Amino acid sequence: MSNILICPICKHKLTEEDNTLSCPTNHAFDISKEGYVNLLVANKKNSKNPGDSKEMVDSRRQFLDKGYYLPVADKMKEMILDLGPSDITVLDSCCGEGYYTHHVSSDPALEITDCHGFDISKPAIIAAAKRYQEVKFNVSKVNNIPLESESVDIIQTVFAPLSSSEFYRVLKEEGFVLVVYSGPMHLKELASQVYDEFKPHKYHPKSQLDRFFTLVEEQELQFNISLDNKSDILALLKMTPYYWNTHKDKLEKITALDSLDLTCDFRFSLFMKNNPHDEEE
Ligand SMILES: C[S@@+](CC[C@H](N)C(=O)[O-])C[C@H]1O[C@@H](n2cnc3c(N)ncnc32)[C@H](O)[C@@H]1O
Ligand SMILES: [Zn+2]
Repeated sequence: MSNILICPICKHKLTEEDNTLSCPTNHAFDISKEGYVNLLVANKKNSKNPGDSKEMVDSRRQFLDKGYYLPVADKMKEMILDLGPSDITVLDSCCGEGYYTHHVSSDPALEITDCHGFDISKPAIIAAAKRYQEVKFNVSKVNNIPLESESVDIIQTVFAPLSSSEFYRVLKEEGFVLVVYSGPMHLKELASQVYDEFKPHKYHPKSQLDRFFTLVEEQELQFNISLDNKSDILALLKMTPYYWNTHKDKLEKITALDSLDLTCDFRFSLFMKNNPHDEEE
């Protein structure tokens, strides 16, 4: 287990002994048999099983394993490689079942020495840790990242919530955040089946990160995919919010389809951490 993990309660460094991580003030966390550690602090107000359910995680894994979004992983690697990485620490924030974490961490060209991933969903982290042993996974939430300040060179985050202040804290000086999110036309054919009128969605991470980061690069990636079986269509539906928010009649229409051609539209924004001295001025 890496030495950059900190206690989510008192923020002191965690050290490992007998499959347990503990801090000097005696908060202790077991290392699971799969190798991950649950650092989520229980809060009475929060759900007992936060984040993606096992069903969503299994669906995402089934879909991603088919390689439909491989061009996304390739683009992420290309953008990281362009930064000229050498002996770097990478964090995949809200990594889900670890598909993009693994693609990036297993590429020798990126010279990653240490790779961490966390997600609030325990089923996602169990699936990730079982399969990708080269990554250090933990269960935690984006607004309480259990890593030391200034310990990470690059944070990557794909289709997930952001925490500007936590990203700023854990990144080293001149560190980067690579944010991957959907462009306006993403899965428009699916959205058209769900809503009577297709409204292109507008999202840009800039407003959330602006205070501590500078946008340094933007890339787009559009491609088409053809799902030629009901099982992949259902898997895609279940990994999107559509499945969980759509009326049964409409879902039945979609799940009755034998094939579905889809537009994929991804955006990649690279942000650089602002110099703390500039912040003070
Ligand atoms: C759309 S999924 C993306 C997962 C992964 N990045 C991928 O692209 O395969 C969003 C993920 O964010 C996680 N998540 C949601 N809220 C979170 C939070 N507050 N802290 C950490 N993870 C969170 C969910 O459990 C889920 O795994
Ligand atoms: Zn502690």
